[in-house]
Amino acid sequence: MKKSIVIAITGASGAIYATRTLAALLERGCHIELVVSDYGRRLLRDELGDAAAIDKLMDYLASTYGDSVRAGTCTLHSNKDLGAKIASGSQDCDAMVIVPCSMKTLAGVAHGLSRNLVERAADVMLKERRPLLMVPRETPMSLPQLRNMVLCAEAGAMLMPAMPAFYQMPKTLDDLADFMAGKILGALGFTHELYPAWKG
Ligand SMILES: Cc1cc2nc3c(=O)[nH]c(=O)nc-3n(C[C@H](O)[C@H](O)[C@H](O)COP(=O)(O)O)c2cc1C
Repeated sequence: MKKSIVIAITGASGAIYATRTLAALLERGCHIELVVSDYGRRLLRDELGDAAAIDKLMDYLASTYGDSVRAGTCTLHSNKDLGAKIASGSQDCDAMVIVPCSMKTLAGVAHGLSRNLVERAADVMLKERRPLLMVPRETPMSLPQLRNMVLCAEAGAMLMPAMPAFYQMPKTLDDLADFMAGKILGALGFTHELYPAWKG
């Protein structure tokens, strides 16, 4: 059955991780419930250019990763809309991924603040015991930030720091993004060939 996944993009560096993950899920025919914070929108443009602005994102994904992304569907929500379907425990999404995840959103999720739709949807995944994957990016990290990661992990989230590996001999930025997207897809239960499996 077609999977339904919430993707949240927040204002940490690494918008390319979000676009690669979105493209890989759409290619597999997933339905995406997408919510992008204000700084997530800014980072899409700052890091990937105006063509990746939120109102053009599907076209950007198709031109960057191929028309096969049109196999999936995507509903965009306002981060201010706490009445959206994904703000409720009765929603039926299989999982949520916050990629990349800012330290601010990490803190909001760690403390159950639900100040916006990203935080509320994450809170829903935790309270309903559904998979929540978080891809935080910051360096160095303060003690409160480290503690917030522990709080999220204790609440049931999977913490997947944006730390691409180098054993797959990456040649391009896309190779690094593929690695993180592959880790996310694997954690969501998809098979993939986004990076070569380590053969020992
Ligand atoms: C160019 C730029 C890069 C940023 N990179 C990071 C980052 O890597 N990690 C982080 O936690 N915050 C980063 N920030 C700061 C966040 O965007 C900021 O804290 C924002 O309030 C996060 O809000 P959000 O979680 O609602 O997106 C960056 C901001 C800018 C403008």
